[in-house]
Amino acid sequence: MKRILSITMLLGAALGAQAAMTPEQIDAKVADLISKMTVEEKCGQLVQRSGVGLTDYMVNDIKGGAVGSLLNEVDPETVNALQKIAVEQTRLGIPIVFARDVIHGFKTIFPIPLGQAATWNLDLVEQGARVAADEASSTGVRWTFSPMVDVSRDARWGRIAESAGEDPYLSGLMGVAMVKGYQGDDLTKPNTMAACVKHFVGYGASEGGLDYNTTWIPEVQLRDVYLPPFKACSDAGAATFMCSFNDICGVPSSGNSWLLRDVLRGEWGFDGLVVSDWGSIQQMIPHGFSQDITEAAYQGAMAGVDMDMENGAYNEPLIELVKAGKVPMATLDEMVANVLRLKYRLGLFENPYVDLKTANRFYTPENLQAARETAVESMVLLKNDGVLPLAPGKKIALIGPMANAQHDQNGTWCFDLDKTHSVTALTALQDRYGKDNVIYAPGLTYSRQRDTKGFDDALAAARQADVIIFVGGEEAVLSGEAHCRTDISLPGAQSQLLAALKETGKPVVTVIMTGRPMTIAQDVDNSNAVVYAFHLGTMAGPAVADVLSGDKNFSGHLPVCLPKSVGQMPLYYAHKNTGRPASGIVLIDDIPQEAGQTSTGCTAFYLDAGAGPLYPFGFGLSYTTFDYGTPSLSATEIGKDGEIEVTCRVTNTGKVAGKEVPQLYVRDLVGSLVRPVRELKGFEKIELAPGESKDVKFTLKADDLAYHNLKGERVVEPGDFQLWVSPDAASGDPVPFTVK
Ligand code: GLC
Repeated sequence: MKRILSITMLLGAALGAQAAMTPEQIDAKVADLISKMTVEEKCGQLVQRSGVGLTDYMVNDIKGGAVGSLLNEVDPETVNALQKIAVEQTRLGIPIVFARDVIHGFKTIFPIPLGQAATWNLDLVEQGARVAADEASSTGVRWTFSPMVDVSRDARWGRIAESAGEDPYLSGLMGVAMVKGYQGDDLTKPNTMAACVKHFVGYGASEGGLDYNTTWIPEVQLRDVYLPPFKACSDAGAATFMCSFNDICGVPSSGNSWLLRDVLRGEWGFDGLVVSDWGSIQQMIPHGFSQDITEAAYQGAMAGVDMDMENGAYNEPLIELVKAGKVPMATLDEMVANVLRLKYRLGLFENPYVDLKTANRFYTPENLQAARETAVESMVLLKNDGVLPLAPGKKIALIGPMANAQHDQNGTWCFDLDKTHSVTALTALQDRYGKDNVIYAPGLTYSRQRDTKGFDDALAAARQADVIIFVGGEEAVLSGEAHCRTDISLPGAQSQLLAALKETGKPVVTVIMTGRPMTIAQDVDNSNAVVYAFHLGTMAGPAVADVLSGDKNFSGHLPVCLPKSVGQMPLYYAHKNTGRPASGIVLIDDIPQEAGQTSTGCTAFYLDAGAGPLYPFGFGLSYTTFDYGTPSLSATEIGKDGEIEVTCRVTNTGKVAGKEVPQLYVRDLVGSLVRPVRELKGFEKIELAPGESKDVKFTLKADDLAYHNLKGERVVEPGDFQLWVSPDAASGDPVPFTVK
């Protein structure tokens, strides 16, 4: 958190109000407390334990001052009972900070973060985090392990679900919106939570899309792709960071002092707390970086990991290292100061207990409405031949394993989900179109089901209906941590069922609820309309009914491209042009027998997939259409400190109102390092009535064009550039400009 005196603090201090303490006051309190602490008490503050309930071992460890933070306790009475032990039965009465993974909602579940990114609506995302903080903090949880801002470009990786997708700029803005939502404008307020920016860093580059795998990221790519979203969150005042499981070029993040001390604290001025990931300090042993837990504890402490999440590195091993003088007392005091500062910033010393009168504030109508709005804006319309919107009175055959999936529609990382509150597509469509007009025959009862014994009922339902709605995708367990897949098509017999439904000749509307980009080309061909929905949360059903009926228009845009084949991974729009960009594509079935070796042209494409995605980053259709004028520039030549006002007229050329997301992309045509063919540098979500136009404006600074050269310098190089204002990363015509 930047040590900036907020206006609130200044005003409060000036008016003598009971304002949050100033950074200086907090530092004085911290120093005074540390001066009284034993080595054991200091190391105790650096230990985060996971536990639920008043177990003897937890009670004894808290009494012994051996627990600084508790993970996963969410019962308010138990939180207060445990806190009472820490505050009243230990020598110094230092409160515990209670933590939980509140990743996309606590009880009211919002779309997974990848879906929230698909809204391109920062206000909605901030609102969602605010709701999550209000619900979770009402149980005593004051620290969440979110936002996850790992740039993710490999759909095989299950944790792409938790990310904001493939782009650093969008990921940074989404992360900042969540930090603001969780922390509010005064972190001492009891309905706020400390954010935790994770996983620092490069976890999304795990080789092969295999979770926990090694990464090989050169510093220039770290600085231009993976670090920027984390820096944005640090600059926004995120209270804590979490280091990642992976190694970067052989150095595990939990032992990487260049990352945690030189970059995070030295370059960025971060003065919050760094927590390990679950056991990530101890895991430096299987990594082959630490001989044993003592060496791992030493490496973690010296690298700048302040708190050990589970796995016993910072209790006895660290105590011995400090007493043997191997870890300097000054280093230990710095770590403890970061923990105590967080607790003061949270107001835990003044207000350690959760208010039982207002505990368990869940599922308010406002919270459910916020979740529904976000779910509506997160859905991406990929295809529509006119079958949508569905007029009332239609006889609907509702089919597919996700149509009535109260658990699975919420997606991954929903530890506190109460699925009985989930409203499914079945319930919502029956409400919207009348029970008699919805014939429900799932055909498959869960996404991985391979047997086709339910097909006959589904096909019979389809034959009675005017239109088929197929709701498929992934069960929640196929997404998230440690859930990587080498086949990212619809699991089980879903595609087979979809093909059979197409054969009935009835129009098919396909809704895919998933935690990742999937390979759905065949399914798209077998559908008249396709809606891509990253797991939508509690209000999935009403949101689906809202958009399919046309009550709400689509406005989601892809935060990740959708591939033609898993063989394309990693796949992203901001790729380099190569010396032989794809041209003259000849696909495998079109190559004559005994064709000559060079007959396919020798450029960068796959014989069996061509080049590029099935749907590009930023793509999303609407019930209306939009026209983009040619962008006008306030200047076509600027200096290194200059800026260009870019204006583009966007018109709603259709018959219904709609929200659109004009995106600003740039390209540096020639650099001392080769540069991406496009990079997102701005966007705005606008709403236009039929026939309405808006002049969308962007300010493009020369500094926005900076990148890191091989010397690690952040440079703006003179030369020719292009920019686009377009509805996605693949469309629009470039407009030239020059940096002198
Ligand atoms: C997990 C995850 C991390 C999570 C932590 C606590 O292994 O990697 O994202 O916050 O442990 O559950």
